[in-house]
Amino acid sequence: MSINYSGQIPNNVNLADDRRLQRALEAWQPGFLQWWSEMGPESFQGCDVYLRTATSTDAQGWATFGYVKMPDYRWGIFLADPEPDRRISFGQHKGEPVWREVPGEHRGVLRRLIVTQGDTEPASVEQQRHLGRTCPSLYDLRNLFQVNVEEGRHLWAMVYLLHAYFGRDGREEAEALLRRRSGNADNPRILGAFNEKTPDWLSYFMFTHFTDRDGKYQLASLAESGFDPLARTCRFMLTEEAHHLFVGESGVSRVIGCTCQLMKEHNTDRVGEHDGIDLTIIQKYINFHYSVSLDLFGSELSTNAANYYTAGLKGRFKETDRDDDHQLTSSGYAVLKPDHGVIVQTEQPALIALNETLRDSYIADCERALTRWNKVIREAGISFELKLPHRGFRRSIGEFAGVNVTPDGQIVTDEEWQRRTADWMPTRADREFVASLMKPTTAPGQFASWIAPPARGINHQALDFEYVTALPAN
Ligand SMILES: [Fe+2]
Ligand SMILES: [Fe+2]
Repeated sequence: MSINYSGQIPNNVNLADDRRLQRALEAWQPGFLQWWSEMGPESFQGCDVYLRTATSTDAQGWATFGYVKMPDYRWGIFLADPEPDRRISFGQHKGEPVWREVPGEHRGVLRRLIVTQGDTEPASVEQQRHLGRTCPSLYDLRNLFQVNVEEGRHLWAMVYLLHAYFGRDGREEAEALLRRRSGNADNPRILGAFNEKTPDWLSYFMFTHFTDRDGKYQLASLAESGFDPLARTCRFMLTEEAHHLFVGESGVSRVIGCTCQLMKEHNTDRVGEHDGIDLTIIQKYINFHYSVSLDLFGSELSTNAANYYTAGLKGRFKETDRDDDHQLTSSGYAVLKPDHGVIVQTEQPALIALNETLRDSYIADCERALTRWNKVIREAGISFELKLPHRGFRRSIGEFAGVNVTPDGQIVTDEEWQRRTADWMPTRADREFVASLMKPTTAPGQFASWIAPPARGINHQALDFEYVTALPAN
């Protein structure tokens, strides 16, 4: 469905036909722009950035590319096309037509789901706002800004739902989304991982790989929702999200590639003195970001998750591709738990294990990416294998919260944990070293010492294309 760019708010929801909603969103817009100018990418608002903008929401050709100053980016409301005769595919309403309006009894829960998702979008922009100053290349700088403007658009996506379907409470929530701040002691963002710092580009690539990937799974399960406007909103967000995941996975892969190159060139596994990042440090960053992201799926056993599912609000990843009764009232699911010092597998009712089900889909996806990273190392002829830590490692939520689980899944004493934690988690020295490498590299076609160039440019452009121009003077 093509997008109407003629009004103040680009959209494909016929906003002009709903004057009330249009006015409400136009009243929210200045607050959003104010937030962007305060909390969006620092120092780069005047640059021309080679960005993609959605021009239609069908699978092919939904993007056009061109230079845009970020504050002029056309943030708007884009929903995937409706599926004719779509039916609810799971839960107690399975087989019934999807809802075009919010079912009254689920209003509070749906609003909460939308607000929680919506809150992550501006949070990540806030977390990443200082990174531009230390970009490893113009190509990476442009990708950072693309991700940032699209997270801003994802905020618009959720705010549209709040305004269109939740009346006054929705409008208040939309305002609150602009007031919370990542890491702020008094008014933080809702979820833990979104209050962590993203202090350097290695953290950024890890964040877009592991934490944005949680977003993919949350969006995919909301894309199954019986509340059709939410499902359609999330479907289009997922197509944007794919680029964010690409930035993360390929970014880490390029760091690994560069490290391997330096290892071979200098015949050492300590590449720090050659301004590269050791594989052991990369492993620690993986341990940190993966464990923080696993917590975002919530407790292994959750009656809330069961209720969302039964009510038809939030499905499983690829719900319709699954070959079962889509109600789960009598099936079981394997869940790991700590039990007297060891980790055991238990059988739980599938309905209350839905967070774990979603986490399992996520873990499988992370494993596939890890295999691709290890292939880079193997093909360089280096014997080293990166690993994902055990799912119980360093968790703050659920069955493993407060349990000392090592990366390979052993439960150890507090003392041993303390003694070995520097082997598993980035130390202050590791972080300071990574920070010391973060020097801006802004000549077209140049890349920082610690990262390899990508395989190809954006939108078939050359690697030395000027992806960002009119940079601020230092
Ligand atoms: Fe997003
Ligand atoms: Fe994202």
